[in-house]
Amino acid sequence: MNVFVLSIFIVTVLSQGLDLSKFHQHDYRLTVERAHVFHYDKEYMNYIKVIPFKCNRTNVALNGTLNFKINVGSELVIMIQFYKFASNEYRLFPTRFQDKFCKFFENNVVGVQRLLNCGNFVGCPLVSNTNITWCNYIPDDSRFPPLIPSGSYRLNLHALYSNNELFVLEVYAKITRPEVK
Ligand SMILES: *[C@@H]1O[C@H](CO)[C@@H](O)[C@H](O)[C@H]1NC(C)=O
Ligand SMILES: *[C@@H]1O[C@H](CO)[C@@H](O)[C@H](O)[C@H]1NC(C)=O
Ligand SMILES: *[C@@H]1O[C@H](CO)[C@@H](O)[C@H](O)[C@H]1NC(C)=O
Repeated sequence: MNVFVLSIFIVTVLSQGLDLSKFHQHDYRLTVERAHVFHYDKEYMNYIKVIPFKCNRTNVALNGTLNFKINVGSELVIMIQFYKFASNEYRLFPTRFQDKFCKFFENNVVGVQRLLNCGNFVGCPLVSNTNITWCNYIPDDSRFPPLIPSGSYRLNLHALYSNNELFVLEVYAKITRPEVK
């Protein structure tokens, strides 16, 4: 089933030159339920905070502040690993993508350009020793990879810089499809 197609997709996206043009779909809705900073390394980060809040009946939006101790510039790498809820726990799911944050930004992957809409974030390169803030962020589900089955997921977002893990966010989200009548 889909998992097979997905595996091919993942192998493709993990190879050099992630094809960001594939991050388009209109098949499912992705709704964030909650999110939090799972871990951050004080050696590289002065500060990080993510505040989820219900902005209307359906959507949870995220406010956030990031303050890098080191100058990551355009070299920050983001790796997103999906875990799917099944039999009472979140289990490793074969969807994972990784690329430089600034490439995701340029290509608006997961709607990351919406971070410009509120707060002081102005795009790449990322500055250090400054509070980078954003508010009212809701991911754009039409900018996610296709073919992910419906269900409850945890997305672990790892921020990496030259083999160091700066922080990990955990985002809980539901993937739903309109009922076929
Ligand atoms: C909730 O807010 C989001 C973003 O402002 C909007 O796209 C969506 O349509 C809203 N949903 C409802 C049910 O109002
Ligand atoms: C950055 O944000 C934190 C938390 O809101 C705050 O305590 C700190 O003073 C801010 N730093 C600067 C330089 O604005
Ligand atoms: C999120 O940020 C907006 C804009 O700064 C602010 O009005 C709102 O109170 C914040 N929400 C939370 C829950 O912090």
